[in-house]
Amino acid sequence: MVWTGYRTHTVNPDEDEEARRPIAESCGIYRLHERHVDALQVLASDAAVAATTRIPHPYPADGARVFFELMQREREAGTAHVFAIEEDGRFVGLCGFHGIVAGRAELGFWVGRPFWGRGIGAHAAAAALRVGFDYLRLEQVWAEALADNVGSRRILERLGMRRTGERAHGSERWPAAVPLVRYEIDRAGFAGATNGPSG
Ligand SMILES: CC(C)(COP(=O)(O)OP(=O)(O)OC[C@H]1O[C@@H](n2cnc3c(N)ncnc32)[C@H](O)[C@@H]1OP(=O)(O)O)[C@@H](O)C(=O)NCCC(=O)NCCS
Repeated sequence: MVWTGYRTHTVNPDEDEEARRPIAESCGIYRLHERHVDALQVLASDAAVAATTRIPHPYPADGARVFFELMQREREAGTAHVFAIEEDGRFVGLCGFHGIVAGRAELGFWVGRPFWGRGIGAHAAAAALRVGFDYLRLEQVWAEALADNVGSRRILERLGMRRTGERAHGSERWPAAVPLVRYEIDRAGFAGATNGPSG
């Protein structure tokens, strides 16, 4: 597996001391911080980002602040760890883990529309997964993507995640005919998937 520009080492974005060290040359993940809230508000308000996620649309005027404060509480409770994706010091999206229970968690990610198609999603999801297994000591990670969300599914497959099924989403915001595809990976699978020459 080749991650262009991806360093084999990682840092713990959950520790203040390390929080400014990028994982890649220009793109890294960092603990979600107050400084990200304004840009988060702008990028999360985009209908194109909401279309394939559970982000509300229209996005509330205080949506980013409420989300930031909720994530602070969840982080303290150990139920979620969400990271800002920064490129050249700019907030460009979010990735991280939700619903953490007994070493299992859901991986989620989104990239602001102006930044799509440049490898940021793949890079950030890989960084998050590494942090999840190396620092959060997760045992298993799962994710779901709409069947027609080609970019997201490609990212999950490149991570070495295994397709384990699909289900109807039952949500009115997405077409009923398009199922959610589920992917999973455990610690051993992740180690195996990243042991390649550049992993
Ligand atoms: C899905 C999303 C995260 C992709 O982020 P991105 O930074 O544009 O993706 P990347 O540039 O890293 O591309 C990763 C791979 O997917 C492919 N890809 C990305 N968008 C694609 C698209 N719309 N159609 C087809 N392939 C696509 C890329 O070609 C690349 O393939 P490769 O591995 O063969 O090179 C981004 O489009 C997004 O945030 N969408 C809205 C929110 C969302 O759907 N989040 C995921 C919810 S499960």
